[in-house]
Amino acid sequence: MADAQNDNRGEARQSFFAKQQLIESARSAFQQLSAVLKNATLYPGAHPFVLSSAEKLLNKIEELLATRKEVAFYIVGGELFFETHSVPIDQSLSLFIEQFTSRDVGGIIFKPGLTQQELIQFAALMNKDPAVLTAEGTIDEIIAKERIAHIALHRAILVDKKIGGEIKVEEKRAAAVFKDAIDAVKEMVHAVHMDKSASLRKMNTVVQAMVDNVLDNRDALMGLTSIKMYDEYTFAHSVNTSILAVSLGTYLSFEKRQIAALGVAGLMHDIGKVHVPHQIINKPGKLTDEEWEQVKRHPIEGALLLSDIPSVSKLAMVAAFEHHQHGAQAYPQVDGMVRQHPFSQIVSLADAYEALTAARVYYSVQMPPDHAIRILIKKRGSAFEPTLVKAFVNMIGIFPIGTLLKLDTGEMGLVMHQTRDLLRPRVLLLTKFDGSEKESGQEVSLLETASGTYKRTAVGTINPNAAKIDVKKYLS
Ligand SMILES: [Fe+2]
Ligand SMILES: [Fe+2]
Repeated sequence: MADAQNDNRGEARQSFFAKQQLIESARSAFQQLSAVLKNATLYPGAHPFVLSSAEKLLNKIEELLATRKEVAFYIVGGELFFETHSVPIDQSLSLFIEQFTSRDVGGIIFKPGLTQQELIQFAALMNKDPAVLTAEGTIDEIIAKERIAHIALHRAILVDKKIGGEIKVEEKRAAAVFKDAIDAVKEMVHAVHMDKSASLRKMNTVVQAMVDNVLDNRDALMGLTSIKMYDEYTFAHSVNTSILAVSLGTYLSFEKRQIAALGVAGLMHDIGKVHVPHQIINKPGKLTDEEWEQVKRHPIEGALLLSDIPSVSKLAMVAAFEHHQHGAQAYPQVDGMVRQHPFSQIVSLADAYEALTAARVYYSVQMPPDHAIRILIKKRGSAFEPTLVKAFVNMIGIFPIGTLLKLDTGEMGLVMHQTRDLLRPRVLLLTKFDGSEKESGQEVSLLETASGTYKRTAVGTINPNAAKIDVKKYLS
């Protein structure tokens, strides 16, 4: 068992390094492409500099072609992708990226049989004034005319639209999964109240759908966690904690079975609260000592409840018992030092973040996500495992999906996806706030540049409730 786990971990590590290596080769090929284009503006096509840089590029592309049918780069919102991997680029390449965007090129595909001459012809074409190009026809028509057979281009708009369409479908599915999860938690709580033996079958189905959904498109489901529901807070809190825990599990490359256990643990971590009187759970003011003692029993009650249900993963029980076992105010009190199980640590972190950002009955003002993240970062090492906090922040970004940003252009942007830069997500630009602009709303990346400088930068966050903006309309 331990050996199998070590093997799996070894494999995961190996595939991680292989992926990093692939991204590095792709980055270097793209960098070389920019060198060829630059040389082609400075020297005639037959100049040795142009020839040798094209030769180098050809070698790099051929290396990549050895293991795949074609070498495809895509540019979406100022960001470079190799196949589906985001490729980090420095700012020196941003002008080069703009050169593509201004010619409506959203992707470039190299095919086997590519020649040095084709690369040089292509470079000359890309260096032409975009206006002249437009007059001669679309860039793919010109490529066909010039018989550059082993290079194909994607139109920028098509690429963006396609990706946008896919995201929409995923989000619809995510919304259904979210709703099912709320229902499942409700049913569970109801069963416990009525003292019926609760069936975990539905719970397991819901968690499975959640895991699949997160594996397909983590962003869609995570976006829903930013929507805070006043009326159904307790249920939504459990579902959100579960989604965040599952997302972190996938981010850390856990096995699917472990991720599912994390999902159940997240959904069930506060189940013990059904034994705490409703008035105490929802009390807006400060709790009396006696009330607080009652609240502090919920991890014990939860673990007891879950231990009664045969098919529930033991890890969910452990997580329910240990999820407040961190920081200075750890409870329930146990003898000796308690080291939380890694699953409990993940659930604790997801729980703490969710509780901080939630618009709970006790707080009149919801804490902006970036503040919550700063609090988690501050608590790393004391309450939370530093490596876990780091992974969590890398996963959700400084401005998580669903955050409303104030931009330096005076615009407002709703975070839709993370990019490789934690401070520069993709946002939906909002101008009117009645929801009618959803269809035409423009999604842009804060990585986009113009003349080498960023087009838009986030300067702060906006509380959607105070600004009377219904974020839910845009995310689901
Ligand atoms: Fe709790
Ligand atoms: Fe909780």
